[in-house]
Amino acid sequence: MQKNIVILISGAGSNMEAIVRAARRGRWAERFGAKVCAVISNRPDAAGLAGARGEGIATEVVDHKAYEGRDAFDAALIAAIDRHTPALVVLAGFMRILTPAFVAHYEGRLVNIHPSLLPAFPGLKTHERAIEAGCRFAGATVHRVTADLDHGPILEQAVVPVLAGDTGGTLAARVLTQEHIIYPRAVERLLAGA
Ligand code: GRF
Repeated sequence: MQKNIVILISGAGSNMEAIVRAARRGRWAERFGAKVCAVISNRPDAAGLAGARGEGIATEVVDHKAYEGRDAFDAALIAAIDRHTPALVVLAGFMRILTPAFVAHYEGRLVNIHPSLLPAFPGLKTHERAIEAGCRFAGATVHRVTADLDHGPILEQAVVPVLAGDTGGTLAARVLTQEHIIYPRAVERLLAGA
């Protein structure tokens, strides 16, 4: 049975691109019958949409601003995602809080990456908060999504040092290079059933 992967983005989509590249290099189609079949953004101006199209992947926008409230938006998003009958829904810089109904609908099929060493620093501005707290190390976490924001069973983590003089920006860039390694790895392990 084909394992369809749907990736949700809101911005640059560099994690999405890392996964698409890994799928190609790692021959996920041949090895797991897996394919990134759609990239969906809640923002029409997400730069990652062009990248996905360049990879020959179907893209779609479900603009949250067009909906009255989270329930209506999540229902529209579910409809768009389910057209692809996904085995896996991958949140890659998708900057919307999802309703419990959405999370329940994709139970066991929904993963996220968060740019901190969870359970430390859920939510926004993680890098600035890690620097401010005097952390010597920061990192990123791939986890299964539960109704609790930025929680859920951890699948992969990577650690980077916090260096003297780091700003939120420099730390974010260091963490992002690790995200591009651990997210494809986590997805590949899920596909392999490991
Ligand atoms: C990543 O740091 C991700 O962890 C965070 O937002 C950033 C998205 O980057 N939630 P990109 O869109 O994958 O380039």
